[in-house]
Amino acid sequence: MPRKLNDMVVVITGASAGIGKALAERLSARGAKLVLAARRVERLAELNRQMSNRHLVVRADVARREDCQAVVDRALERFGRIDTLVCNAGYGSYRTVAETSPEEMRRLFATNVFGSTDCIYAALPAMLRQEPRDGFCGQVMLVSSCVARRAIPYLGAYSATKAAQLSLAESMRVELKPQRIAVTCVMPIQTKTEFGQVAEIEGGLKIAHGPVGQTVQHVARRMTDAIVKPRAEVWPFRPARWAFGLGTLAPRLIDYLMNDYRRQVEMVNPRTTDSSPVANR
Ligand SMILES: NC(=O)c1ccc[n+]([C@@H]2O[C@H](COP(=O)([O-])OP(=O)(O)OC[C@H]3O[C@@H](n4cnc5c(N)ncnc54)[C@H](OP(=O)(O)O)[C@@H]3O)[C@@H](O)[C@H]2O)c1
Repeated sequence: MPRKLNDMVVVITGASAGIGKALAERLSARGAKLVLAARRVERLAELNRQMSNRHLVVRADVARREDCQAVVDRALERFGRIDTLVCNAGYGSYRTVAETSPEEMRRLFATNVFGSTDCIYAALPAMLRQEPRDGFCGQVMLVSSCVARRAIPYLGAYSATKAAQLSLAESMRVELKPQRIAVTCVMPIQTKTEFGQVAEIEGGLKIAHGPVGQTVQHVARRMTDAIVKPRAEVWPFRPARWAFGLGTLAPRLIDYLMNDYRRQVEMVNPRTTDSSPVANR
């Protein structure tokens, strides 16, 4: 039975921009009750205003465990249940693994991985207690990435966080099935959002974007379909599922193809051995 979006309670982290914002707009138009969480609360308030102020806005930095708990508490206080939790907040950093400091690595995992697990840990008890709605007690949706299947150079640390999200989803999907909690992992390819801008600022490298990409509206549409009819994985750009799957079957072939990509990035970001931040550490 498809889940009705009308009056469904959906919590979205990272709703102030990009994919999260597009999903909020789509779900709001279909009658869902939303909890919009992010750090830039003024953006969330403006988004809520555009949607007739029907939703709940919560300022939250998901890297802080207490903020994740507060998002869930405020959602339950206002709406009494959570039907779908979308762990979408995240960012990347264009930098080699060798140049990623231990502090940066921890910061990335704190947002992308622990920001997901802390929200899930806070939300699951309520989902397990609540009455099923359209056959499900709840749904956890993690916004991972195609790079979870096969990491790419200059996004190694980020790819590791996305692989962690995918592993969590794969385990939870089976563990929570008897409790009628669906778990869905979203695997977008390059999508036009603020992601690239943030990753360039964080990592300090310029990356030329490839010709293949998708819009936030397309990703949000596919995510909405998977909220209505929960499925294991959502690949908004379907051919990517097979292309990235090949990475697990033929890793050396993909390494070979990635070498070209590395050379392109090196051309845009020229460095001498003397200026290498790793050698000079
Ligand atoms: N764009 C792509 O090419 C692409 C591809 C695959 C997967 N993804 C994934 O899609 C998700 C959304 O990214 P996007 O492309 O929509 O990027 P975006 O436009 O930069 O949006 C990122 C969202 O995450 C929020 N966020 C970041 N750090 C946060 C924190 N510590 N606490 C709370 N919120 C935080 C931001 O809100 P505030 O800054 O206001 O807090 C913003 O709302 C991410 O998980 C990303 O890894 C993106």
